[in-house]
Amino acid sequence: MADSKFLTFNNGEKMPIIGIGTWQASDEEIETAIDAALEAGYRHIDTAPVYGNEAAIGRVLKRWLDSGKVKREDLFIVTKLPPISNRPHEVEPTITKSLADLQLKYVDLYLIHTPFTININEDGSFKLDKDGLMEVDVTTNHAATWAAMEALVEKGLAKSIGVSNFSKDQVARLLKNCKIRPANNQIEHHIYLQQRDLVDFCKAENVTVTAYSPLGSRGIANFNAGAGIVREVPNLMEIPEVKEIAAAHGKTPAQVLLRWIVDTGVSAIPKSTNPTRLKQNLDIFDFKLTAEEVAKLSSLDKNFRVCDFAFFHGVERHPEFTFQNQYTN
Ligand SMILES: NC(=O)c1ccc[n+]([C@@H]2O[C@H](COP(=O)([O-])OP(=O)(O)OC[C@H]3O[C@@H](n4cnc5c(N)ncnc54)[C@H](OP(=O)(O)O)[C@@H]3O)[C@@H](O)[C@H]2O)c1
Repeated sequence: MADSKFLTFNNGEKMPIIGIGTWQASDEEIETAIDAALEAGYRHIDTAPVYGNEAAIGRVLKRWLDSGKVKREDLFIVTKLPPISNRPHEVEPTITKSLADLQLKYVDLYLIHTPFTININEDGSFKLDKDGLMEVDVTTNHAATWAAMEALVEKGLAKSIGVSNFSKDQVARLLKNCKIRPANNQIEHHIYLQQRDLVDFCKAENVTVTAYSPLGSRGIANFNAGAGIVREVPNLMEIPEVKEIAAAHGKTPAQVLLRWIVDTGVSAIPKSTNPTRLKQNLDIFDFKLTAEEVAKLSSLDKNFRVCDFAFFHGVERHPEFTFQNQYTN
């Protein structure tokens, strides 16, 4: 049972257990949403260069910091080293660009976004092979990239460092080859993809876990469609058991899905650009799920991965890509 609104990292830093996700929102939407989120009490913001909105978020943060409405030490800003920059010599220039866009001197948590690496052309477009598939960089060396991540902490550019989309084996390998232990692994985690093995392993190793797509990422369908992928995305908020539990507590299905996550000591970063929904997503601490309700929700796992990176056509050929054939999707 979560007894706190924070998770404490292995280095003593504290991360608010609920943050706001920012993937798939225009600059205008995100500026309004971040303003509303800060007003509602969010202090943890999850972004990435891949989302294309660091500069928009930076503008809002600057306004809030300059006005004194919030202090830098009260914010918890997370951004990521993109899959196109997953090489040791690119780590510092890439975070430097993120910090300039975010108008910050440091981020609270810097994550390696994916365990795999993709090649780009000089103009920034993806390098494609003769079959139109993305060219992957098979020289990815997590230990070497991690050493460059550790240097960011030493230089004060990131308070904490971690990974995202890393498997149990990939986290274990990193733990054997690090000076600074990863503080966090950000993974897809919701009632249809619980990844219990990975979550339990990370927790036992004192690596906190953040659940991305905690509400099932309905919006990914549009994103996939843009990449020519048509795939049904289940609506977790319409699952009868979830609706029933929500009704029993007078809460929304989304609030039940989020409470289930934080009760297991995992952070969640639901994305919403709607002021009412983003407020709801933070308002999950005034009710408790019973043991029976938790057991019912936990029994719904379908090993169903929503974010399988299929939109990066050909990425499954990378040796560090581990999602292939593991999931029913
Ligand atoms: N590390 C990674 O590789 C990775 C991958 C995917 C995502 N992420 C991070 O995780 C964040 C969250 O994941 P996600 O964006 O994929 O999906 P999500 O948070 O599971 O779902 C977002 C969708 O749910 C809707 N929604 C939000 N709150 C709701 C509520 N209370 N009731 C009903 N609908 C609601 C949103 O629409 P409205 O905006 O209209 O409310 C949006 O369509 C991302 O934004 C990103 O920051 C990281």
